[in-house]
Formats: sequence, structure tokens, C-alpha cells
Amino acid sequence: MYKPVCFFMLSWLFAMLIFPGVPARSGDSLLKDNITVRQGDSAVLKCSVDSKVTRVAWLNRTTILFAGSEKWTLDPRVVLMENTPVSEYSIKILSVDVHDEGPYVCTILTNKKPKSTKVHLIVQVPARITNISQAVTVNEGSNINLMCLAIGRPEPSVVWKHHSVRGVRKFVMDGEHLELRAITKEQSGSYECIASNDISTPDTRTVQVIVNYPPSISKARTTGTPVGQKGVLQCEASAVPRPDFEWYKEDRRLFNGLNGVKIENQGKISMLVFFNVSEEDYGNYTCVAMNKMGITNASIILYGPGAMHDVNGAALSPYCAQSLALTVTLLHLLKF
Ligand SMILES: *[C@@H]1O[C@H](CO)[C@@H](O)[C@H](O)[C@H]1NC(C)=O
Ligand SMILES: *[C@@H]1O[C@H](CO)[C@@H](O)[C@H](O)[C@H]1NC(C)=O
Ligand SMILES: *[C@@H]1O[C@H](CO)[C@@H](O)[C@H](O)[C@H]1NC(C)=O
Ligand SMILES: *[C@@H]1O[C@H](CO)[C@@H](O)[C@H](O)[C@H]1NC(C)=O
Ligand SMILES: *[C@@H]1O[C@H](CO)[C@@H](O)[C@H](O)[C@H]1NC(C)=O
Ligand SMILES: *[C@@H]1O[C@H](CO)[C@@H](O)[C@H](O)[C@H]1NC(C)=O
Repeated sequence: MYKPVCFFMLSWLFAMLIFPGVPARSGDSLLKDNITVRQGDSAVLKCSVDSKVTRVAWLNRTTILFAGSEKWTLDPRVVLMENTPVSEYSIKILSVDVHDEGPYVCTILTNKKPKSTKVHLIVQVPARITNISQAVTVNEGSNINLMCLAIGRPEPSVVWKHHSVRGVRKFVMDGEHLELRAITKEQSGSYECIASNDISTPDTRTVQVIVNYPPSISKARTTGTPVGQKGVLQCEASAVPRPDFEWYKEDRRLFNGLNGVKIENQGKISMLVFFNVSEEDYGNYTCVAMNKMGITNASIILYGPGAMHDVNGAALSPYCAQSLALTVTLLHLLKF
């Protein structure tokens, strides 16, 4: 603690001795434009001098960096600019960092009259995301908090965007903390955090949010199949995590490979395949879809030729359409 304070005091006293009136009073101080540099770049601080100048110095706040050509600071990043015009007394700060920001003063002594030029060094730092929430998996209805911490100078703005599973990209809100209450399945997807402060291209990172929800059967296709043909009953359920399926005929559970049926599961679709439909196969089947969030079922009828089914107001079955087409063709033929 003692040493830096002592050094500082000494610097100050020296400055007062060599350059009475340091720092100069506002009357003889000249404020130049601010110097704006990016973190890591070099800053050149220029000071104009003329032949009448007897003593010159550059100060960082109240610490002397250079007095004439003599280096006072121990900071290796501060160098005196060489090969400059005689009328210029400039220093260079290499690899500028945020703590270098502040006022720098060039003090010159002309005919015993001190004068100073003050420059304000402003350090810019591109926006950067320093910490972001981990991917989360939650159940529908839960609350979640997402965090995206960003640094930069000037202070970056943080924006959240949502990319839904269906590919819709939408603005959600501003700020480092995003709170989602009673989350729905539509709110799953990736959340993009964009931090920007116009110093460079924005920094972007994403968090994946998975919302678990119980299955709901979106398609339960009822089909007509004649005896002796291959028959397929199809059941489609959306669910997260992916659903497991079970098939029943009335109360009897059906198993893959038994009783001439095969159960084929492909993600959200389950198919009950009959290798060779027989009369006994016709009837009412139930597709059950389940995951850890819940269970649901739908009934699907396998019917033969002649049976006209219109389940759930669905469109005519392919078989029915075929029969109709045939009838129309026959009528056509009879007419002519
Ligand atoms: C220089 O920067 C300071 C501090 O950020 C600010 O108060 C002042 O208005 C700026 N001056 C100019 C000329 O930009
Ligand atoms: C300027 O002074 C500040 C505060 O004492 C210090 O942190 C910084 O390193 C100094 N920069 C230079 C270039 O001397
Ligand atoms: C990010 O933030 C979390 C929560 O505040 C903290 O536990 C974690 O250590 C942070 N990670 C980093 C790299 O700072
Ligand atoms: C389907 O089953 C019937 C009666 O069991 C049989 O006569 C016929 O050959 C079978 N067809 C095929 C393609 O296996
Ligand atoms: C099929 O069975 C389900 C219940 O298992 C019943 O609700 C439905 O009405 C039945 N459908 C037909 C066409 O009989
Ligand atoms: C289908 O769902 C109904 C009502 O949710 C239930 O009563 C029935 O037992 C279920 N059927 C099967 C085979 O799981």
C-alpha cells in the first residue's frame, strides 16, 4: 500500500516543482477532441509544441508518463513517438485497455507560463456474451428463466429472439433476463440472445428449450382392405418426449410379429401392418400413445369391401373412392 502512494506523491511533487501549476487551471487548458480507440488497439496522444517551449510532459490523470524524453511510467505500453515533427510531442499507448480510459494532459512550459492540452481517452469494447443459460428441458406449464450476460463499452443492448420448432423467428424481449411463465409447447425451440453496441458485429448465442408435453393423436387413419391383401392402420401422435405406442383389438393387446401383424414405429407414427387381411381381422382397433407426460388413444376401424365408413367426418377412404370411380366408369360404359 505504502509504495504506490509514495510514488504517486513524489510524482505529484515533482510535477509541481518542474511544472508549477500542474494540472493547469481551466483558464489555460485546452480541451481537444476525445480520442476513441478499441480495446487492444493503440492510441496516439498528440501535443503541439513550439520552439519557445522549455519543458513538456504527458500525464495520465496526475501521474507523469513522460517528462521531456524521459520515461517516468513503468508501463511498457507507453512509448514516446519518434520521428515526429519538431512541433509535436506525442506518446503512444499500445494495446489500450479499459482502465486506460480517462483524461490525459500534455503540459508545456513556455516563458515560465504553463499551458496544458487535455485529451480524453475513450476505450470501446465490442459487445461480448460472457455467460448464457444452459439448454433446458421442462414440462409444459413450468416457469423458466433464461440469462444472457454481456459486456462491452458502451454498455451493449441485449435482445432475445425465439426460433420456434416450426421455424418461425420472432422477437421476444429486451434485457439480459428472460422469464417465461407457464410455458407452452409452442414456446419450445431455440432462444437467440443478441448483444450489440455498434462497435463490431453483434455477439450471438442460443439456448435450446425443450418443452415436454403429453401425446395427442393427430391422425388415426381408418382404411378399407379386401381379404387376402396387405392392410395398414396408421396412427400419428405428437408428443415430447417421443411417444411409445401400443395397439389393441377390443381389449386384446397386439404384439409385433404375432397373429399375422407387424407393428412399425417411425418417430411420431405407428403402423399396424396386416400381412394378409382375413375376415377375422375386420373390426375396431385402438392405438394408444403414451410418454411420461400422459396417455391417449384413438380407435381405428379396419373394414372390408362394401362397408361404407365415414369416421370422424373424414374424407372417403381410398377404397371407397376406388369403388365410386368403378361405378361411374360402369355407368358410362352402359350409357354408350
Ligand atoms: C469527451 O468525453 C467526455 C467523457 O465521456 C464527455 O463528457 C465529453 O462531452 C466528450 N467531449 C467531446 C468533444 O466529445
Ligand atoms: C492511467 O491511469 C490509470 C489509473 O491509475 C491506470 O489504471 C492506467 O493503467 C494508466 N494508463 C496508462 C497508459 O498509463
Ligand atoms: C454463469 O452463470 C451461472 C449462474 O449464475 C454460474 O453458476 C456460472 O458459474 C457462470 N459461468 C461462468 C463461466 O461464469
Ligand atoms: C392370404 O390368406 C389366404 C387364406 O388364409 C391364403 O389363401 C392366401 O394365399 C394368402 N395370401 C398371401 C399373399 O399370403
Ligand atoms: C370402437 O371402440 C371404441 C372404444 O373402444 C368406441 O368408442 C367406438 O365407438 C368404437 N367404434 C365403432 C365404429 O364401433
Ligand atoms: C382410451 O381412452 C379412454 C378415455 O380416456 C379410456 O377409458 C380407455 O380405457 C382407453 N382405451 C385403451 C385401450 O387404453
